[in-house]
Amino acid sequence: MDELLKIQEEALGKINDCQSLKDLNDLRVFYLGKKGPMQAAMKSMKDMTKEERAAFGQVSNKVKQDLTAAIEEKKQVLEEAEMNEKLKHERIDITLPSYALPLGSVHPLSMVREELEDLFIGMGYSVAEGPEVESDHFNFELMNLPKGHPARDMQDTLYIDENTLMRTHTSPVQARTMLEANGQGPIKIICPGKTYRRDDDDATHSHQFSQCEGLVIDKNITMADLKGTLELFAKKMFGEKREIRLRPSYFPFTEPSVEVDISCHNCEGKGCPMCKYTGWIEILGAGMVNPKVLEMCGFDPEVYQGFAFGIGLERVAMLKYGIDNIRNFYSGDLRFLNQFTRKD
Ligand code: DAH
Repeated sequence: MDELLKIQEEALGKINDCQSLKDLNDLRVFYLGKKGPMQAAMKSMKDMTKEERAAFGQVSNKVKQDLTAAIEEKKQVLEEAEMNEKLKHERIDITLPSYALPLGSVHPLSMVREELEDLFIGMGYSVAEGPEVESDHFNFELMNLPKGHPARDMQDTLYIDENTLMRTHTSPVQARTMLEANGQGPIKIICPGKTYRRDDDDATHSHQFSQCEGLVIDKNITMADLKGTLELFAKKMFGEKREIRLRPSYFPFTEPSVEVDISCHNCEGKGCPMCKYTGWIEILGAGMVNPKVLEMCGFDPEVYQGFAFGIGLERVAMLKYGIDNIRNFYSGDLRFLNQFTRKD
């Protein structure tokens, strides 16, 4: 037992004097390990009486506990000292450049859509939505394109089954909105959204693209309202100097129907490749809502009139930003996308 207490005293002294975590660990291994002086002292246990052995066991356990506690305590002191030493010499250099956090950008089609929404909401329109998987009834029938109508050929259609299809235009939202209104005007909506056609993809065609539909229904609506609205659209989207030109056209859902051109913003109308040297760029289709459509959708054409228009969002974005390939919108190429930042 004296031996044990001697070992303890010696060990405590060394632990106390110890200056490094490594030395402390060596001390721990030496005094508490299998080959240390403690273990050697234990060997004498076999010559003891039962009582002596019990007393010895108690003391040796106590010594082990005390040494373990002393080492743990010293360890904390040394660790703290080490940390303080480190902190004295290490500095955080706040002048170092920080990591570059990659920032996303707004997709050019989203920018055009948001700009259109702002413009039309400012004129009292609300934004309507409709399903992309649409019924033949809404996409065609209610738009005055009955089965077998030759104008259906203008829109190569992706059918899901005989009566269900991917909407070929945003025009079915016209019918949905009118039917919801139960024959009661006024209606003033735009509907931006995705549209689908069975087209082969090339520089100007994409099987999935985007349109923005517009519909106004009220009493005493005339073509002058349509023209004024589209003129404002042209000026806001392409610059104050833009003019518009209406050319007669045909859509089953409007009568009369027009194709709308804007004066070329690229050459100010002088003639350039963008306007194919005509000074004018075709931008959208529009017209006065066909009385048959009004009637099918629950409005009395003797009381209500309306105008409608359909804008191709890719076309607007391509003209506005000089993009020459529609595939750029859908390839996810960051070199393309990063060129666009929100103007605000
Ligand atoms: N739905 C037509 C299309 O996809 C575009 C269109 C033309 C919409 C005239 C209209 C409109 O509302 O009045 O080709």
